[in-house]
Amino acid sequence: MAEHHPRRALITGITGQDGSYLTELLLDQGYEVVGLVRRSSTVSFERIAHLQDQITIVSGDLLDEASLIEALRLHRPAEVYNLAAQSFVQTSFGQPVLTGETTALGVTRLLDAIRIVDPSIRFYQASSSEMFGKVQEVPQTETTPFYPRSPYGVAKVYGHWITVNYRESYGLHASSGILFNHESPRRGLEFVSRKISHAAAAISLGRQHELRLGNLDAKRDWGFAGDYVRAMWLMLQQDEPGDYVVCTGETHSVREFCELAFAHLGMDYGDYVVIDEAFIRPAEVDLLVGDASRAASDLGWHRDVGFQELVATMVDADLDLLQGKLKGIS
Ligand code: NAP
Ligand code: GDD
Repeated sequence: MAEHHPRRALITGITGQDGSYLTELLLDQGYEVVGLVRRSSTVSFERIAHLQDQITIVSGDLLDEASLIEALRLHRPAEVYNLAAQSFVQTSFGQPVLTGETTALGVTRLLDAIRIVDPSIRFYQASSSEMFGKVQEVPQTETTPFYPRSPYGVAKVYGHWITVNYRESYGLHASSGILFNHESPRRGLEFVSRKISHAAAAISLGRQHELRLGNLDAKRDWGFAGDYVRAMWLMLQQDEPGDYVVCTGETHSVREFCELAFAHLGMDYGDYVVIDEAFIRPAEVDLLVGDASRAASDLGWHRDVGFQELVATMVDADLDLLQGKLKGIS
């Protein structure tokens, strides 16, 4: 078996929010980064445009195991970060089978490709606090039972347990990061944080007149994506693989996010936010708040960015974007 390259990492989902921050971190650490990208009729490299001359792109899809085997054989990474997923909860209700194929079975395809090509590859699985769903305990830890509330959450539970299973069955160095919501100016516009920051900025510039939202009472443990990718990397540097909750330990409602975002620009969210049934989900996750003690003690991980700073940064970035001060996404 050919040797893998000790400082080469392959990232699935490199074009996504977390993929872009993780790429920056790994390049800073001296890694060669290979990004697995699926074919589409238009390229979606906006988040990694500034990194493109420093990384290698390989074509592949979590729906196609042969493409994953081929990518691993060709590039021989030492570490694989599986960030690719159908990651939008609302879409998972409308496309539950696709979500299962990608977000659940996609993990098995990748783990199996690793087992076949090189079982010494270290593996990171992007698990999610959505797995806690109707929470059985407050705050949520690595031992809190799962009770997912969406096809996405169900798929992530499968992805989590198949990761544990390959670790226990084949001795893979496979870790699962149970990450709570993390946001940034690079967040997709469909997620509530960015939808709010972008709308607040657009309304302040007179380019939008209202913001249509669903449940304002849902509470989330929101952190900054740049802090969270550090935890992913730290997990793969440990002698032993494991499962880690990564979160801030604070929870805030969607309403509070709105209040802060609009107040940052001198506005009252109540003047602009309209409740729209179209954004209410068939089943909701009412409250998420985690306890990251294990990540703190074992990985030495802590977050740097707090909630207020996160909201202000996102609103400022959207204001700059809309005013043409930023090219693409910062
Ligand atoms: P994201 O911005 O939605 O990015 C998802 C990525 O997956 C994109 O690069 C997308 O590629 C890729 N992808 C989708 N289907 C694919 C397929 N069939 N084959 C290959 N690639 C595919 O997600 P994110 O916020 O960065 O999150 C990264 C991971 O962490 C996801 O697994 C998500 O479920 C999980 N997670 C996120 C959070 C959070 O708060 N952000 C919290 C917990 C867990 P295209 O560009 O081609 O669409
Ligand atoms: N997207 C969206 N749009 N959400 C809304 C809206 C709206 O107009 N109005 C209210 N919400 C509420 C949702 O009902 C949910 O309770 C909360 O805002 C957060 O929604 P999202 O930002 O879409 O994120 P999520 O919590 O469902 O899922 C995200 O976090 C998970 C980790 O807990 C995603 O990033 C998942 O991929 C991730 O696993």
